[in-house]
Amino acid sequence: MEIEVLGRALTTLPADDDHPYRTGAWRPQSIERSADDLEIVGELPPDLDGVYLRNTENPVHPALDGRYHPFDGDAMIHAVGFRDGKAFYRNRFVKTDGFLAEQTAGGALWAGIAERPERSIRQDGWGARGRMKDASSTDVVVHNGVALTSFWQCGDLYRLEPTTLETLGKATWGGQFPTSQGVSAHPKVDDRTGEMLFFNYGTEAPYMHYGVIDSDDRLVHYVDIELPGPRLPHDMAFTDNYAILNDCPLFWLPEALAAGKYRPKFHPDMPLRLGVIPRRGTSDQIRWFEASSTYVLHWTNAYESGDEIVLEGFHQEYPEPEDNGEGGIYQRLFRSLALDRMGTHLHRWRLNLRTGEVREERLSETVTEFGMINPHHAGRQHRYTYAATGVPGWFLFDGLVRHDTLTGREERYTFGEGVFGSETAMAPRVGASGEDDGYLVTIVSDVDRDLSECLVFDAANVADGPVARIRLPERISSGTHSTWAPGADLPHWRTSDDPTEAMGFDRTGL
Ligand SMILES: [Fe+2]
Repeated sequence: MEIEVLGRALTTLPADDDHPYRTGAWRPQSIERSADDLEIVGELPPDLDGVYLRNTENPVHPALDGRYHPFDGDAMIHAVGFRDGKAFYRNRFVKTDGFLAEQTAGGALWAGIAERPERSIRQDGWGARGRMKDASSTDVVVHNGVALTSFWQCGDLYRLEPTTLETLGKATWGGQFPTSQGVSAHPKVDDRTGEMLFFNYGTEAPYMHYGVIDSDDRLVHYVDIELPGPRLPHDMAFTDNYAILNDCPLFWLPEALAAGKYRPKFHPDMPLRLGVIPRRGTSDQIRWFEASSTYVLHWTNAYESGDEIVLEGFHQEYPEPEDNGEGGIYQRLFRSLALDRMGTHLHRWRLNLRTGEVREERLSETVTEFGMINPHHAGRQHRYTYAATGVPGWFLFDGLVRHDTLTGREERYTFGEGVFGSETAMAPRVGASGEDDGYLVTIVSDVDRDLSECLVFDAANVADGPVARIRLPERISSGTHSTWAPGADLPHWRTSDDPTEAMGFDRTGL
């Protein structure tokens, strides 16, 4: 394995840090590295061809008032690329405006989500709340051959070369980017049409917008979505013909908001509202369906079936877990991040477009979240969901489950004591013949052995364990959202000797 240091960030985190989301499995990186010819245990399938990209909340400074929340961390992308049975690795910070400003300042300039906005040193900022740093550390997708990172509170989309991870600037969409509202956590790419669908939300009417970017990176559709007030939606879904937005009954308390305070509150007496709009529909074409009260962080997919839209995602039994006094202060403070405390279960909603009726069913008794499907089935009927299991009480993933949503059968793999994974992307095999004909890719951090590995599973045989383990140069921080970028979708992937230099960007550091 050849390792090269690409850059170093200034970090001012204390040596004796005791924050559980900055230590242990969440110990952040400050050095950017490149490594080729990674050591492989097992056999790397030659038909695994492309790049696994994972975003990470990777802080480099203490929070302004000492109340760090893991969603505040700066974005670091880890990439593991697979070509011709070999693997390479890169990790780079996303060079956001906020990250660069704080590198220059030598400390935090913006208050985090658990801190008061007026404490921000900078008057400007991003996010639905305002005066936050756009950390861009939430999701990563690949659209039009470019990786895009996003921020859960709405912000810019940062463009990265998907193999070198060089930051290429912000998405502008030819000057049409909605700068004042931004884009929320999870833009959705439809591989069939080359389109990317997105929404944003904020504290001013109409409180939400929905838009479409075409395969040439142009904003071709952008409409108001009227909500009853400011809401906190996180994800959306789509089918061949429709986009599905949501109005979950968990939102900032209006009376507190009027006083400039941002206190999220769940309202169990209010329904979950699901908004179905034709993909190029106008504001008045949205139809709202009411379902049982819950908050949904992530949908896995949606598709059309006769008169119905079938929507799958994770229903939360306890969107606002009570402080039960168990665990230490951090475990209690961050109880809303623990899958068991939220009681997340794979769930199906059937929205009847003819009658307006909604039928629901729980698909699994196992607590999972962060589900991924074969990307070729996005918007079309799927059968399998690959999701994470969580460590009780913590925002850590200790294994993965392959849900067969047709039979209810589940296959499970547990990473092992002290080993924590991230969202697991499904990589269809080159020349795949079926939905589960491919591989699952994830990165794990082994705290006890102080190392990280990229694990590759046969998607159809999860319980058998990984078919290959790829050793990374160092133990990296735990992280969440990820994506799979097939080599065939990457410019010059096949025509260059070195896929990471194919686009001609240099390897300069910070
Ligand atoms: Fe998310």
